[in-house]
Amino acid sequence: MSAPKNVLITGGCGFIGANFVNFIHFAWPNCNFVNIDKLILNSDVNYVCEEVRNSPRYEIVLADIRNRDVISRVLNSKSIDTIIHFAADCTSTRCYNEPCEALENNVIAYVQFLEAVKDYGKIEKFVHISTDEVYGDSGMGSDEIPKSEAELMYPGNPYAATKAAGEAYAHLYQQAFGIPITLLRINNIYGPQQWDVKLVPRFIDVARKQQKFTVQGTGKQLRSWLYVDDAADGIRLAAEKGKVGETYNLGTYYEKNVLELAESVQAEVDKQLNRPPSKVEFISIPDRPYNDMRYLIDITKAKKELGWEPKISFEDGLARVVASALKPHFAQKMSIAIYGGNGWIGQKIQKLLQSRKIPYKIAKSKIGIHSTKQLKKLLSKDILNFEKIIIDELNELCVTHVLCCTGRTQGGNFKTIEYLEGGSDKAYENLRDNLYCPLVLAHISQKLGLHYSYIGTGYLFAYDSEHTIGGKGFDDAGMS
Ligand SMILES: NC(=O)c1ccc[n+]([C@@H]2O[C@H](COP(=O)([O-])OP(=O)(O)OC[C@H]3O[C@@H](n4cnc5c(N)ncnc54)[C@H](O)[C@@H]3O)[C@@H](O)[C@H]2O)c1
Repeated sequence: MSAPKNVLITGGCGFIGANFVNFIHFAWPNCNFVNIDKLILNSDVNYVCEEVRNSPRYEIVLADIRNRDVISRVLNSKSIDTIIHFAADCTSTRCYNEPCEALENNVIAYVQFLEAVKDYGKIEKFVHISTDEVYGDSGMGSDEIPKSEAELMYPGNPYAATKAAGEAYAHLYQQAFGIPITLLRINNIYGPQQWDVKLVPRFIDVARKQQKFTVQGTGKQLRSWLYVDDAADGIRLAAEKGKVGETYNLGTYYEKNVLELAESVQAEVDKQLNRPPSKVEFISIPDRPYNDMRYLIDITKAKKELGWEPKISFEDGLARVVASALKPHFAQKMSIAIYGGNGWIGQKIQKLLQSRKIPYKIAKSKIGIHSTKQLKKLLSKDILNFEKIIIDELNELCVTHVLCCTGRTQGGNFKTIEYLEGGSDKAYENLRDNLYCPLVLAHISQKLGLHYSYIGTGYLFAYDSEHTIGGKGFDDAGMS
């Protein structure tokens, strides 16, 4: 296969995904791209450069890859022939803290995605991005043998375990259902637009402020350093030439430990800020429960079969990252659907979002209240599936966050909640608008992988001897 026609990229608003989009848009000049991302963590729509964002060959769809309706719609309407799959929760520390969430995102959502791809049945090439971390630790000796693709997987942290599980499912769907998957296990990547919890951007920030470098454990952990454009070119070659069912390592033999990295970053930042060399000092911070010391991988197969090897030197790569980090950036990290957006609080929130240039859309459906037209449409399909109206609307809106500002606080001649004390029909309205609606929205948001916020009320609290009028405020534990 040479350059594809219509490519779906998952996770293309993250660090590697966005750099890949910026690279491949020009490397495959006749190709159309759809980027599906749910904007978790540090992702940003604007990591994709303006020229690409404005191109008719590029489209962004904000959705979770687990949303089979949206994935099927995109695959079919765009006649997708190639998939490059990046989407994952990639932060080792976060995955330690939230191992089940990481499993749900990196494995369960991925399997739902694979199901949609299987049903579609017209993919010609699928590149699955995995990590060297699936191999687990390498020894620290200078005679250590780099790990080849035939090595067994021994993941040493929850993130790596989810990536190994993702690979297992990729293998299964390739074998059993013929999805043409090629797997890439890539070394530690650095480049512009990486989240500042990661080593290089964190160190650039420290170096700029001339602070002390925080180091987990001894700081002697060795990492190989692969520049993101080299990785992007390897991914391109895997899409064009990689064999289906095969795995390729992409990486470098250029290693530096964390302490040495700090020295290099400080020197480059000082150089670009035109100031004399700063002193490099360290402070130790608690280590992860287990921190692999080294990932040394063998890249012979990629060299031989894909004709790939890294070209960008560490010095050149670091200079590019520092230059990019020192430039101002206008972020777009979310898009919100507001329910109850025309109420009093909804309008205030709209103003706030406008002032912060955060995109939002006002949802129209009224949960629990259906028009005759909507009901007739449902009757022909599934009378009990009222949720479908909301799901269809959210799939149409394509947002990353849902904000629920709905609630019944007045009605009729009453401008206060006294309205709700007027009899059993009011109890129905009260439960429908103040309980059923926020709960249904929460449930649907979870199902679609959307972030959900609900604006509750201070009426949940009651003054008592400890919390008098004008006295101490309530906290979460103070509900009565
Ligand atoms: N950073 C590295 O050094 C490195 C090395 C080897 C492999 N990888 C792999 O490369 C891929 C990208 O890593 P990254 O460093 O760019 O991470 P990142 O967090 O910057 O990007 C991941 C992107 O995926 C999106 N995403 C996550 N779950 C999603 C879901 N369920 N639906 C839709 N979008 C979702 C996020 O919003 C984010 O934009 C990952 O698969 C990672 O395992 C990373």
